[in-house]
Amino acid sequence: MDSRDANSSETTNVPVNPSSDSVFSHVPRAPEIPIYAVMTACSKDPSPLKLNLGMGVYRTEDGKPLLLNVVRRAEEILVNDRTAVKEYLPITGLPEFNKLSSILIFGADSPAIKENRVTTVQCLSGTGSLRIGADFLAKHYHQDVVYIPEPTYSNHPNFFIAAGLTLRKYRYYNPQTQGLDFQCLLEDLGSAPSGATVLFHACAHNPTGVDPTLEQWEEIRRLIRCKGLFPFFDCAYQGFVSGNLEEDAHSVRMFVADGGECIVVQSFSKNMVLYGERVGALSIVCKNADVASRSESQLKLLIRPMYSSPPIHGAAIAVSIMKNREMYDEWTIELKAMRNRLMSTRQQLYEALLQRGTPGDWSHIIKHVGLFTYSGLSEEQVAFMTREYHIYMPANGRMNMAGLSLKTVPHLVDAIHAAVPMSTSK
Ligand SMILES: Cc1ncc(COP(=O)(O)O)c(C=O)c1O
Repeated sequence: MDSRDANSSETTNVPVNPSSDSVFSHVPRAPEIPIYAVMTACSKDPSPLKLNLGMGVYRTEDGKPLLLNVVRRAEEILVNDRTAVKEYLPITGLPEFNKLSSILIFGADSPAIKENRVTTVQCLSGTGSLRIGADFLAKHYHQDVVYIPEPTYSNHPNFFIAAGLTLRKYRYYNPQTQGLDFQCLLEDLGSAPSGATVLFHACAHNPTGVDPTLEQWEEIRRLIRCKGLFPFFDCAYQGFVSGNLEEDAHSVRMFVADGGECIVVQSFSKNMVLYGERVGALSIVCKNADVASRSESQLKLLIRPMYSSPPIHGAAIAVSIMKNREMYDEWTIELKAMRNRLMSTRQQLYEALLQRGTPGDWSHIIKHVGLFTYSGLSEEQVAFMTREYHIYMPANGRMNMAGLSLKTVPHLVDAIHAAVPMSTSK
């Protein structure tokens, strides 16, 4: 009997001892990711008064998740398309999706697109696009320093750290003015090492709700180009600021119009309300078509061992909407309605705080834009509001304005009014 035979007869009869240690028994429990911990705590709270202002997702005036009508229509078209198949997509995704996504962000008459200087690849939503973008920089860019705004989206540091890049922060938000800390931003970027990558939120900054004005963007652009820094835009909320997709792309388009290079990441999670479909794109704008094409070939090498190719359904929905004029128009109307509801909720909250005579200047609530407002409430005040009023938000006081409605504004105002005396700053 050779050794393989001996093994097979002996080993198959060896009983597994369920009480023996797992080969993974050394694995420590990881701490819960803070925003998910907020969500879990909220879901376990039986109070009928509970208010969820935590996770960055849109809710209707009734507090319900939204499915856009135009998305429903697109899905019907897809279901009824008897020619549709479920073959693997190319590594870089659905070609039509890539083309239409780049038009959406750079504009239909973008010279960079016409000159084939842009490579756009479909990735797993904003998150996957950020991760591939960070990996591309780590592998193919000479400077490993990346500047991110302070504060920024809580997942941002992870992409660049995972890629092995060196993180630094630039000042962005001034808690005194509850607005942009423009001078400090210029100072920090002005002293960045040449070639450093600088991450910007294209619009609707998360978590603050504070964006630079167009004039400020222009000054930032000049500084970036003059110092040879590399801009990396994260565009997760196109349409949420002005209600207009073209207008909200302005910051990105300014940087592309000067002929310089940049990376742009897009997410359709928010503006098409496609969160779970994971629809997004990564674009690299290059100096010429040859570099763009070589960059794309390298993106394929990054994607292939990770997930091989992206999923088809969500991108197909986005294509159906973006390629059909009438459906595109319907999308923009529905998007604008979401944005308008956020604006009117801001106004209602602001007026209710004024009416209540809650001490402090609350005008930042109506000055901030997009989904979030950085309330200025301290960690202690947030904990108090959760404990006493069942109101949930991250410890930094970021409020998702979509979690609020005309009906729930009074409850939030009661809570803020009670929490404010705990602070000396308000
Ligand atoms: C600024 C920013 N970037 C990226 C993302 C990730 O978006 P996605 O859900 O498309 O991965 C988010 C999600 O909240 C975000 O706020």
